[in-house]
Amino acid sequence: MCGIVGVLGDHEVSPLILDALKRLEYRGYDSAGIATVNHGKLDRRRAVGKLINLSDTLVHDPLPGRVGIGHTRWATHGGPSVANAHPHRAGRVAVVHNGIIENFRALREELTAQGAEFSSETDTETIVQLTSQYLEQGMTPVQAARAALKRLEGAFALAFVFDGEEDLIICARRGSPLCIGHGEGEMYLGSDAIALADMTDRITYLEEGDWAILSRAGAQIFDENDHQTARPMTRINVETARVDKAGHRHFMAKEMAEQPAVLKAAMGFYAGQEDNRIELPDSVDFKSVDRLIMVACGTAFYACQVAKYWFEKYAGLAVELDIASEFRYRDPVLGPSNMALFVSQSGETADTLAALRHVRPHVAQVLSVVNVPSSSIARESDVALPIHAGPEIGVASTKAFTAQLQVLAILALKAGLDRGFLSAESFAARLAELRTLPGFVAQALDREEEIRRMSEALAQARDVLFLGRGVMYPLALEGALKLKEISYIHAEAYAAGELKHGPIALIDTDLPVIVFAPYDALFDKTISNMQEVMARQGKVLLISDAKGLAEAGDVPFRLQMPTVPDFIAPIVYAVPAQLIAYHTALHRGTDVDQPRNLAKSVTVE
Ligand code: G6P
Repeated sequence: MCGIVGVLGDHEVSPLILDALKRLEYRGYDSAGIATVNHGKLDRRRAVGKLINLSDTLVHDPLPGRVGIGHTRWATHGGPSVANAHPHRAGRVAVVHNGIIENFRALREELTAQGAEFSSETDTETIVQLTSQYLEQGMTPVQAARAALKRLEGAFALAFVFDGEEDLIICARRGSPLCIGHGEGEMYLGSDAIALADMTDRITYLEEGDWAILSRAGAQIFDENDHQTARPMTRINVETARVDKAGHRHFMAKEMAEQPAVLKAAMGFYAGQEDNRIELPDSVDFKSVDRLIMVACGTAFYACQVAKYWFEKYAGLAVELDIASEFRYRDPVLGPSNMALFVSQSGETADTLAALRHVRPHVAQVLSVVNVPSSSIARESDVALPIHAGPEIGVASTKAFTAQLQVLAILALKAGLDRGFLSAESFAARLAELRTLPGFVAQALDREEEIRRMSEALAQARDVLFLGRGVMYPLALEGALKLKEISYIHAEAYAAGELKHGPIALIDTDLPVIVFAPYDALFDKTISNMQEVMARQGKVLLISDAKGLAEAGDVPFRLQMPTVPDFIAPIVYAVPAQLIAYHTALHRGTDVDQPRNLAKSVTVE
């Protein structure tokens, strides 16, 4: 989390930094700050809360200078306050940091014993105090920063500026992403390329352990052993990197609406419209795989959970599934005929990346399904399969979820073919069903007005229960997560059959229960569980298709979905899960795109 930016400019940099921070605000919005060097003098401005507050501060108290660094914070060590806001400064150096310095306590004690006075509760301040101490000892800025970096344990992306140095930014990356942007007589750095999209399309991604000296003339990059190294410069498509709401009230609304187009375009990358072929790299081969290990966090984990049903049903492949933060700290039994698959929108989630590194030496192949092809997870996989969803800015993941599901569905079909489990006819039929997705998702989006009305009552609830069976169980989990994230209503999801083993005790007249139940093989079972809720006066909203609603009889609230093939139903039913959360949040007046305490890219453990 946290977003960092640096600019060595030809003109005033504060407006550029502020602009770039706006595009990084998805990484955190507890506080923001900028430091510049102007006429040799280091100065900074910081403000608590969203970027708009820093913007206001700068109107009243401008920060001149042609070199500067900026930060948008997601608090880890120390609450959101001006004192804890970055850039941190000690003596002649200021630093912005994304990550966690794990040995900060020891460093802080050591520095305090030597007379350093700390003004924040952050781990980051130890970096500036250390660097400042080295400067005081007579080291140059480059020597001091390098010496400080050697003392740090943990994860970081860092940028340093120094009093008296107007043509210098030092940056470093270990565990957290960082890229350098090349301009005409200007240089930039940012947590991601999107941050720099308005300034340049020429990007160099730093590798793990790299550090760099930036001046307006260019970048000198060093690897973790201090050997000067060349990293490739790539051109990004600034059009796709540019982000705006395109007339929608929120990014989340825009991203939900984009789903039919995203699914259609992504399908084009993996399967032509006419034939029955899937286009995947040759190295993706499930023939000799005996177990698929899937690991992810949050919404991406629920996508994996749906995919588990698909890999089992359509490919006969054993799947093991875990949350990345749990997986990495247990002792999973891994073998050379296992394949590992990591799913991540950002491709930077710290736990998912750590899990990937953990399995890498032990399995046959590491695959990833990501939205950001230049991300760490993509780069460290044997094969990265992009979901082609375009930038997702709303903290609550929507189009990335459905696009992840589509790619996972394609992979499951490929596995079915490779393993001789799926006949050519079934394969063709399932692929044809996938091609109908954009139309069905568009029909599901058309239910928005109905969902908006239903959500008015939900917005009054204190708790909500989501139920589903089979592939609809992960959908229930995703629905509950979305609702919690953006409306702050406590929501829980249960496999419908598990209801009677505890949560049924919660049912009363105040508890809305949302049931996902398309008319499929498990429909009758789910409806029996729904009846158990209604027998106890639970307020049920049944989401089903025409046949299901007709069969279910009298239910207090009903939402009709299009009638869709079982295979693609979870992707279509994701839409009401998203819209319910969105409209409930709107009724409650919460901040949909930037809900409290959350961040989109979770680069700390
Ligand atoms: C955060 C986001 C979620 C996301 C999860 C995993 O918690 O708020 O929307 O699902 O991280 O992120 P990833 O980028 O790995 O998919």
